[in-house]
Amino acid sequence: MSSASELQQTITDLVDDHRGILAADESLPTIEKRFKAINVTATEANRRAYRSLLLSTPGLGNYISGVILFEETLGQTDENRTPLPEIAQTQNIVPGVKVDKGKGPLAGAPGDLITFGLDGLEKRLETYKTQGARFAKWREVYPITRHNPTPLGRLANAEMLARYAAVCQESGLVPIVEPEVLMDGDHDIARCAAVTELVLHAVFHALHQHNISLEHMLLKPNMVLPGKGCRRAEPQEVAEATLEVLRRTVPAAVPSINFLSGGQGPEEATANLNAINQRKGNAPWQLSISYGRALQQPALQAWRGKPENREKAQRALLKRARLNSLARQGKYDPCMENDDE
Ligand code: 13P
Repeated sequence: MSSASELQQTITDLVDDHRGILAADESLPTIEKRFKAINVTATEANRRAYRSLLLSTPGLGNYISGVILFEETLGQTDENRTPLPEIAQTQNIVPGVKVDKGKGPLAGAPGDLITFGLDGLEKRLETYKTQGARFAKWREVYPITRHNPTPLGRLANAEMLARYAAVCQESGLVPIVEPEVLMDGDHDIARCAAVTELVLHAVFHALHQHNISLEHMLLKPNMVLPGKGCRRAEPQEVAEATLEVLRRTVPAAVPSINFLSGGQGPEEATANLNAINQRKGNAPWQLSISYGRALQQPALQAWRGKPENREKAQRALLKRARLNSLARQGKYDPCMENDDE
């Protein structure tokens, strides 16, 4: 298959009008943090048990079209020796992989961060592909302060995303481009809107300069929200601010925008997605999810590392996936939270 038709097939399998992407790609320190909150030690066996539980949730493929895995998961098998990416595929869920190597300070731009992992990326992608991955994810983060992100921070982060996306497309993997403006801080929603607009503008400028095929990528942005230390915004306010920024910055050729949850609670993230879809008008892209915490939190709480809680955890995941599928179509109502799956 040519690279373009391979990329197109992956987009076709990932993007429809009712499903979204599950982010289950927590790095070792992040999964350790999530497990610590439920008193589970982050051993290889526990990570395997948990992720195999998620991927084998009966019916998950009705609501989830793709899953982002951590590289370790690509090589793991379940108790029957079935590779975990194959379990996803059997459910009609496309396996993908997080390929960045975490972040650190950006020299010359105090307060800004930059993500590592470009060196040797092409070789790593070859291996991931043989393990079943068909798309990739790379995250750049932008803290908001009085001075950040700086113009240099926006430029350097956009350049990294574009270089990563170019390597992916040349290797036949669809890149998820994730510029995340963080919720930390006490800034208001207008400041988040202004920063997100500048960030996305820089990202699409760099993608253009690096000859990225916009038809063969997905954007994973933050929603436009007030900082955690500021008053909460109603879903309609979030929706209007988010759509305004996206309309100003994201070309119509991008097939789908899949939001991260970024620290919103599960119900909040679903309500905001619903409001966005109810107000999308003639927006040219699909507006869906690529949630990590907002999909997994109830499942983690239900599981608590105990094999006997496996089905309970799967029901909790399926419920969030189903409600987000409805929200993605603008058909969610908070009273549905009381229905049992
Ligand atoms: P959250 O939805 O928990 O923000 O995670 C999404 C993700 O993949 C961050 O890179």
